Parts: sequence; structure tokens; C-alpha cells
Amino acid sequence: MILAGLKRLEYRGYDSAGITVVADGQLAGQKKAGKLANLTAALEQEPLPESHQGIGHTRWATHGGPTDANAHPHWSMDNRVAIVHNGIIENFAQLRSELMADGVVFRSQTDSETVAHLLRRALDQTNDLAEAMRQVCQRLEGAFTLVAVDATQPDRVVAARRSSPLVVGVGEGENFLASDVASFIEYTRQAIELGQDQIVDITPTTVNVTTFDGAVAEVRPYEIEWDLTAAEKGGYDWFMRKEIFEQPQAAADTLLGRVDTSGRLHLDEMRIDPALLRSIDKIVVVACGTAYHAGLVAKYAIEHWTRIPCEVELASEFRYRDPIITRTTLVVGISQSGETMDTLMAIRHAREQHAAVISICNTNGATIPRESDAVIYTHAGPEIGVASTKCFTAQIIACYLLGLYLAQEQGMKFGDEIVTLVRELTAIPDKMADLLERLEPVEALAEELLSAESVIFLGRHVGYPIALEGALKLKEISYLHAEGFAAGELKHGPIALIEPGLPVFVVVPPPGRDSLHDKVISNIQEVRARGAQTIVLAESGDAAARAQADHFFGLPAGPTLFQPLLAIIPLQFFACEIATRKGYDVDQPRNLAKSVTVE
Ligand code: G6P
Repeated sequence: MILAGLKRLEYRGYDSAGITVVADGQLAGQKKAGKLANLTAALEQEPLPESHQGIGHTRWATHGGPTDANAHPHWSMDNRVAIVHNGIIENFAQLRSELMADGVVFRSQTDSETVAHLLRRALDQTNDLAEAMRQVCQRLEGAFTLVAVDATQPDRVVAARRSSPLVVGVGEGENFLASDVASFIEYTRQAIELGQDQIVDITPTTVNVTTFDGAVAEVRPYEIEWDLTAAEKGGYDWFMRKEIFEQPQAAADTLLGRVDTSGRLHLDEMRIDPALLRSIDKIVVVACGTAYHAGLVAKYAIEHWTRIPCEVELASEFRYRDPIITRTTLVVGISQSGETMDTLMAIRHAREQHAAVISICNTNGATIPRESDAVIYTHAGPEIGVASTKCFTAQIIACYLLGLYLAQEQGMKFGDEIVTLVRELTAIPDKMADLLERLEPVEALAEELLSAESVIFLGRHVGYPIALEGALKLKEISYLHAEGFAAGELKHGPIALIEPGLPVFVVVPPPGRDSLHDKVISNIQEVRARGAQTIVLAESGDAAARAQADHFFGLPAGPTLFQPLLAIIPLQFFACEIATRKGYDVDQPRNLAKSVTVE
């Protein structure tokens, strides 16, 4: 059961795994570097005794390499207590020296092992595992989820949570703890969301939640909306491919219920005082990775519609540069998982500065939405592939809804203008579906470019972040060198990279009244003149773009601001095709984690 649960968390990325169970008043376990298959094989060789109480962990190395010894669970010296830990114990060096001076011999190089020894010492003071955990947590600095078992306390598992994810699954005669509901969805859809600095103590029939100070905590039970099939491949070979094809549904579900019959937008989750929303005079978007690229796209639309200045910043950079935030700044945190530590720390910083915080998130009850003033959920369903696809387009849609909502509330757009824009947005799922049926040429292209060593992506305006995201997808899963550039910036340096045969993808905006389209056509000519092989994504009827293309991919027609929602799809698919042809695991690319819960 624990192995199956770990299997469902595999997508988050890890490099070693382990299990400990309690049987007949003793600990028994196994841990192995590498994939779960190694652990499974070791357990087949040496099976564990029958047990009804245990913990398991997949580790993404921070302190100490991915070895058997550094894998969790970690045990106390007398093999009485076992713990697993997510996060980083920032004061571990000091704790470790203190414990070593006291005669403790460490079996690993991890920060986590200190907790096993501290907990064992605390059990000498109080024989209660929850109370011991409470005492240990008072001494820890940093972010952590800890889960512990004590060989002398049967049928009991105790966990603590500060900043890192932890949810409770409530079953019948059985209870679960996990960092993601996916691991227990097979057994129950009843979950409990835990708050910050809480301890949870479970037995087969009880769940007790208290604060780090020992007070009884209020908890929020909820029902998980999706079922096991949503977290399975459903006939596809890879989750990533399945998720690329789920984009029309994800987009439609994200739009669902947000527009009334008169075309007026309602964001029911918007718990921010309307007067405050009307006074917002600056927007700062903070996010990481693909979510950051979604923010970069959204900036163009938000500024255009609201006339409010909008900055987009990498969450990991944000709080370290003393950003200018006031009570009338709106900070938007975008995060698929809602657990990315860099983004969490950025929104915490924003709230300390009294800014209003809205998050855009795909995971019900995750830490980032919990710590925001309001949340707009992207209803994309679980995203398992490490490289984000359907959540990227759903995040852009959620940002657009927010932009239009602000324009509506601040009176920057007339009602009929908003209706027209919302209509364009609601047409997107059908256009995505049309495009997804025409991806065969991309397969042929991937075959042809299989031996490419480097690929360049170009775009202007909203096409620029699409170039960045197209390049990121290729880097993440095919390990190819890929870079995205602003097409107009090329001539200021990167054009030196162009050499005969180099594949260059170009996203061409729709022909329109401004000269944007023609400028991009000129940029294609510049790279062609130097021998590049051009792969052009433009509206199907765009003859000028087609004339400059060695390979042409036609996009459904529509306004420039909505083109990213379509243009990214062939690029995602191309990355997936190249990587699978090269024989790589696209769902779990090397070195990457789906949800990065360390800074
Ligand atoms: C990790 C993932 C990326 C993702 C980023 C932000 O680095 O590998 O695919 O875009 O985190 O994740 P979030 O859950 O905050 O959207």
C-alpha cells in the first residue's frame, strides 16, 4: 500500500526511496537509491513483516547525495523511532554538532536525520509521540513536513507541518497522511487540509490536529473532486501527451461558471474588498518556471485591458531585491502545485508589506492559496507530467479572467468590450481541439530534427514568452540546447548563433493594423538569409509567413492576445515527440521535480 502510494507521487521527481513499518514492537524497513523499482526489487528479495502502520518517502537530494544511507526513513540509534522529512532544516548543523557531542552517531549526511535523534531524546521526557514532536518542532528552523512512527506506540503515526505540504486522507478504519492526495485517492476521497504549524496524530479510527503550542486546531475537511482515473494515463503512453490533449477541457473548465448570461464576469472566489480592488494601481506577478512564462504572457493583456502597470518577476528573485510594494499593489502568485517554496516565500513577503495577494493555483487547499487573500483555481485536473502543459494554458486563461475582471471593476472597459473579449476567450477550447487534430506534421518534423543539437525559438510581443516556453519544454524533457529570444533582439547579439541548417521556430502574430506582423516576417528573413531552417507558426491564411517557411504550421485565426493559448500547443507536442523518440522518460525528466518545496 505504501509502495503504491509512493508510485503515485513518483511524478514529483525523486532520486531515492524508502519504507519503514512497525511490526511486533519493532521497526523494519528498506531504502534504496534510484527509482522505486530498486526498492521494490529489494523488498521482493527480503519482504517486510505484515504490518498496519508504516511510513514511506521519495527523496530529492539537497543535503547529501542520493545514496541508500541518505534515503529516508531515518531511524534513531536504538531503532525505536523512524521519521521522513520534506523541506530543509536550516539549523541542522548546530543541532547535529549538539547531538554528536552527546554521543549520537549519524548514519547519513542529511539534515533530516537530526530529527530522528531529537525525537528519540524527547521521548525520554514525555512518552507521547505527539508531544515529543511538538517539542522537537520548537527547535527546528526552516520548512518541513515530518512524519514519524515509534515502535512502542502501535497503530499511531504523528506528523508535523510547517510550510511544506501535508494532507490527511480519512478512510473507514484507516487513515492516511501524504504530501499529495493522489497517493491515497484509491482508498478515500475525504481529505483534511492542514494549516501552518500544526501537528496531526492519526490512528486507524481517529485524527487529532493540534497546533505547535498544543491547542486544538480548526481543520477544513473537503472532498477531493477528481477520482483515480484522472491520475491515470487513460490509454496514452505518457502523462505529458495526455495532458497536452486535455487542454481544451482544462481551458473550458477554467472558464466554467465565471461569466453570466449578460457577459458579466464573476470571480466567486474573489474575497478581496471591491473598494480595494478598485484602488489597485500596480500589479506584480510572481511565479517560477512555466508559471512565470504564463505571467509574462498575461502582462501584455492585463496592462492593455486595465492600464495598470504590471511587472512579472521570478519568485526566487522577488523578495531579495526589496521590491516596492504598497497597500494598493496587487501581487499575483501563479503556481500549479500551490507548494513551490520560492513562490510561497514571495507572496508571504508581499503580505508582510500589506499588499493584497491573489493566487492562481491548480491544487485545492494547497499552501499558496491558503495564504492568499483570494484564489482563482485553474480547473485543469491533476497534472502529473513534470513538464507543465495544460496548466500553462489554464494559468493564462485565469490571468486573463483576472485582467478582464479588474478592467470591469475599475471601469476601464465598457461592458460590451468585455463581452466581446470573453466571447473570444470562450472560443479558445474549440480552436485548441481543432489544432490538436492536426498535429501529424509535427511528428514528421520531430523525426526530421532528431539529430539537431540546438534549437532557437523566436517571438515578439506575446509570442516572446511563447518562444521562452517552447525552448523550456525542449530543454526539460529532451535535454537539447534550446533558447528563446525576442525576435527583435536577435540582431543585437544572438544572431551570431545562426548557422546553416540551425532549426529556428518563429511565432508570427496575426496580420493586423500595427506593424508587428511585418516586423516578425523581416526577422524570419534575417535568419533565413544566414541559412537557418525556419519552422513558422502563423495563422493558416498568412501567405507572407508561409512564404518564409521551410516548415509551416497553421494556427486558427484570432486576436494577437489569444494566440499564445494556441501557438504553444505544437511546441509542447514537438518537445514531447523529440524526447520520446530519443527514448527519454518525458514524465520524469532527469534532475527535475514537479513540485519544488525547497528554496
Ligand atoms: C518546477 C517544475 C516546473 C514548474 C515550476 C513551477 O520547477 O519542474 O515545471 O513550472 O516548478 O511550479 P508551480 O507548481 O509553482 O507552477
